[in-house]
Amino acid sequence: MTAMQRTSLTEHYAVHMPTPDDFAFWRESARDLIQCEVPPDRVSWIEPGGTGDLFGSGSSALPEPSKGAKPVRASKRFLSLARNAALHSDPQRFALLYRLLWRLQANPRVLEDKTDPDVRRVEELDKSVRRDSHKMHAFVRFRQVEAEDGSEYYVAWFEPDHHIVRANAGFFMRRFANMNWSILTPRGCLHWDGEIMRESGPAQRSDAPDGDPVEDLWKSYYSSIFNPARLKVGAMLSEMPKKYWKNMPEAALIPDLIAGAQAREAQMVAAGERQIRERPESLEAIHDAIANCRDCPIAECGTRAVMGEGSVGAHLMIVGEQPGDQEDVAGRPFVGPAGQLLDSALGEAGIDRSAAYVTNAVKHFKFAQRGKRRLHQTPMAKEIDTCRWWLESERAIVRPRIVLALGASAARGLLGKTVSLKSVRGAPIALEDGAELWVTAHPSYLLRLDGAAREEQAALFAADLTRVKARLAELQA
Ligand code: URA
Repeated sequence: MTAMQRTSLTEHYAVHMPTPDDFAFWRESARDLIQCEVPPDRVSWIEPGGTGDLFGSGSSALPEPSKGAKPVRASKRFLSLARNAALHSDPQRFALLYRLLWRLQANPRVLEDKTDPDVRRVEELDKSVRRDSHKMHAFVRFRQVEAEDGSEYYVAWFEPDHHIVRANAGFFMRRFANMNWSILTPRGCLHWDGEIMRESGPAQRSDAPDGDPVEDLWKSYYSSIFNPARLKVGAMLSEMPKKYWKNMPEAALIPDLIAGAQAREAQMVAAGERQIRERPESLEAIHDAIANCRDCPIAECGTRAVMGEGSVGAHLMIVGEQPGDQEDVAGRPFVGPAGQLLDSALGEAGIDRSAAYVTNAVKHFKFAQRGKRRLHQTPMAKEIDTCRWWLESERAIVRPRIVLALGASAARGLLGKTVSLKSVRGAPIALEDGAELWVTAHPSYLLRLDGAAREEQAALFAADLTRVKARLAELQA
């Protein structure tokens, strides 16, 4: 069909959707069709692998609107409903959306008629897609597996009702930015390596691992956030349908938690809700307080909380992620292999570690026991955020002029949000108290590399430390 032409009354079109969730493609195709005045009953919307060309021989070459064609009207409300409804598994969704868009051209208020069957249907689709996304956010549970190179990898299995996987990739990327993970689903999979999100085709339940030590963590976490005072069993079951229980380790706890809820509620009332905390006034007070801190489940891990080391008034504060195996045993930060690498790089840059205050974003060693070995586990964003209180308290007392964050967890501990190393490296970020935050890689990252990749990263690390040294000299001048 050539530009400028109005379609003939008998012409019909088959729009082949490249993927079941490609709203942008639907939107573009729908706009062209409307501008060429193709009525809804002349269009079939066909999903990949699907049939559904009502006319059997519909043309796949869509009409091209003329340059002067009237703009297509679509209210914000319509676009927001349509974006979600397009992800529903109902095969009629694209036809419904096109019909509504067509009707909107003549009647911009069509969405206001709540009795209209098309309006009711699009609202239903929108609601069930939002609900499905909410379930995915709440019920994806990662299990730890060991990757071929020995590094930590997390895998989750989830069964969405609708085509919501790709639309929710950003949510999981932000929440689990520091972990390497895959979310496997029968509608396609997501894979995140800390830098790049990849997608792959559908998976089966048997592709995902069952049970592992991370489950214990989830269980104790769930018990600790379960609030008996807010317990409404009916609402809980509707929020957490039994369908999802088989993938959720903490579901096994629910009967006992419900049974014990009354007693815990009484306890909570007696103890009062969490006390309002005052900031500790000395490093010693922080040291004592973190030893008893039970604000998150990893406080139960390891031998002890590891306090920062250094003096009040140190100009430089160096922040790592969390103590490792050796730090947990020694009770001091950065004494293991990562610490040795850090010491030698600081030495080469001319930075005196003993004049700095060295600490971690998270004060406890989080690990998974594998035989006799304790394997490091990356803290989750929630755990880093919980421990921020202590890091901020240390900063308020030490008052460094420069803070050097080693890696993404440390950066999150200081900024309260996830940032990618690439986006913040090489230039300072002003903190609210006037200190400068510099972010570089974590030395453990260098330890995991070898060959040219290690040399390249070591050079970037050295360059970052040299910049920090120069800036320290400027500030001290
Ligand atoms: N890695 C860290 O982030 N901190 C330590 O103290 C040791 C290893």
